[in-house]
Amino acid sequence: MRKALRSSRCRCEPGRRGGRSRAWAAPDRLVDLVRHKTLAFTPGSTVIGFSAFDTRGYRTVDVRSGYGEWVATYERTVENAMDIELLETLRKVPWRRLRRAADLGCGTGRTGAWLRLAGVSSVDGVDLTPEMLAVARSKGVYQRLVEADVSSTGLEAGAYELVVACLIDEHLRGLQPLYREAWRLARPGGSLVLVGYHPHFIMAAGMPTHFNSRSGEPLAIETYVHPLSEHVTAALSAGWVLVEMQERFIDDAWLALKPTWGRFRNYPISMAFAWQKPEAGAVAKRGHASRRRNDKTTNKTNSSL
Ligand SMILES: C[S@@+](CC[C@H](N)C(=O)[O-])C[C@H]1O[C@@H](n2cnc3c(N)ncnc32)[C@H](O)[C@@H]1O
Repeated sequence: MRKALRSSRCRCEPGRRGGRSRAWAAPDRLVDLVRHKTLAFTPGSTVIGFSAFDTRGYRTVDVRSGYGEWVATYERTVENAMDIELLETLRKVPWRRLRRAADLGCGTGRTGAWLRLAGVSSVDGVDLTPEMLAVARSKGVYQRLVEADVSSTGLEAGAYELVVACLIDEHLRGLQPLYREAWRLARPGGSLVLVGYHPHFIMAAGMPTHFNSRSGEPLAIETYVHPLSEHVTAALSAGWVLVEMQERFIDDAWLALKPTWGRFRNYPISMAFAWQKPEAGAVAKRGHASRRRNDKTTNKTNSSL
């Protein structure tokens, strides 16, 4: 199965429109938008739409209809370099020891298949798009598959040692509902792994998540830009603790897959966060420790008055 996944090709085809000069125009337009207060960068409080960066101008479709059509070619066009290879770099996640995982935005089951190969005993999947779920079902790697939004999965609370979300966050208007739902699902001590299309790349390349429709028309699927600080803010406010982060850059291996991407060499194209939900006791201990620290500081301050 791993070999089959490895042989798949890239999700992002080189542009039909735009080009080097248009791609580089995006930052100027961005500066204008910020200067004229059309965009305000306050982490967690502003939805950054993709249109300010768009160098392609593809017609945009919603998630469900987009993936409902892309499903036919999805696994041939998505690159393992984007997500699977990043999963392989994470050292703080004890894959082999994990018994139960929830795969949010599981799509056709690429992530679930990798998790099973990595040693995770049982994986449940959730996705909005029935056609993607049908392919996931045919793989036979999931214990349970549910058609639902990742913000409200209906899965059992506190039941999972791992929650994973790969290549989905760019389709979400906001990140807090995802991080909160993942927190609800994870058991104390459990992990959340999120792999995403890098916001820096989306901004710099002006390239939405897209595919070629049956008629050959390139179509964009509703895409949002979530700066890394928005991830950190949303995850911390849900209670997660960051244990590891990795980024994948455009290197020779990527350029072998996408020879026309020379102008993106060294740009980060995807990122992986590994978060942990502290054990119940650890939360209490951390609370005590910080209270003790605060008391000491207060005493010092008082005695120096
Ligand atoms: C790029 S695919 C990723 C699939 C899989 N994780 C992978 O890595 O191949 C994105 C998937 O997220 C799903 N999706 C997007 N927004 C969603 C939401 N709000 N709730 C549930 N699924 C969603 C889409 O239906 C699609 O199957």
